[in-house]
Amino acid sequence: MAQTIKNQIIEGNIPRHIAIIMDGNGRWAKEKGMNRIFGHSQGVETVRKIVEASSEIGVGYLTLYAFSTENWARPKKEVNALMELLVSTLKVEITKLHKNNVKLHTIGDIAALPEKCQQELEESKKQTENNTGLNLTLALSYSSKKDILNAAKILAHKSVNGDILIDDIDESVFQQELSTCNFPDVELLIRTSGENRISNFLLWELAYAELYFTKTHWPDFDAEGLYQAIDDYQKRERRF
Ligand code: FPP
Repeated sequence: MAQTIKNQIIEGNIPRHIAIIMDGNGRWAKEKGMNRIFGHSQGVETVRKIVEASSEIGVGYLTLYAFSTENWARPKKEVNALMELLVSTLKVEITKLHKNNVKLHTIGDIAALPEKCQQELEESKKQTENNTGLNLTLALSYSSKKDILNAAKILAHKSVNGDILIDDIDESVFQQELSTCNFPDVELLIRTSGENRISNFLLWELAYAELYFTKTHWPDFDAEGLYQAIDDYQKRERRF
């Protein structure tokens, strides 16, 4: 089945930029009588599968919502575990990512992360900076509203300093000030675990995206789930 749907979708239009809200690690763990942190570590396995599958079928950009600014409100123990998981995953996976020509990026308030995370991310980005395959972006301590506000402030400063005319501010000028300025707009957004919300993720960049919601919890999501989402995307008529 997986092979068939994979063969079918690669004949069609593969979305250039896929963004994913990886939701449901906690509920998945609870259903199994385990703690939430176990859910997150299983979530990492799904990240691995989805990055590999995306790279294989020629997705250009994959942006993963790994930690929102709202996630800081979670219990300290869970936040620490997520940060440690990020560091240990990068340590283990970066060589393989590099070998697969993946280029790592981040968006969000990286300075708010623990020093160890910042260091690991910096090294991983440096190691993969010349790669030309999948652009993998981790959104960490990310808030789309903050990103948009930041762009507005930069342009306000430029205007006050006489570096730009208000009438020259158009969509493309504005987009250049977003943290995603080097990426194309998202074409397909996937959210797992049954919530039909955007949750402050890539609000500007999702303007024309197809939205795909699945009830599957993130740790149960896999390559076939990704192919199904792409199949659904390919069947929709895209009207702007
Ligand atoms: C949502 O599940 C998931 C997160 C907030 C974190 C996602 C993190 C990972 C998959 C692991 C670390 C990532 C990388 C890239 C190494 P939830 O906790 O909100 O689940 P719930 O809604 O069921 O409680």
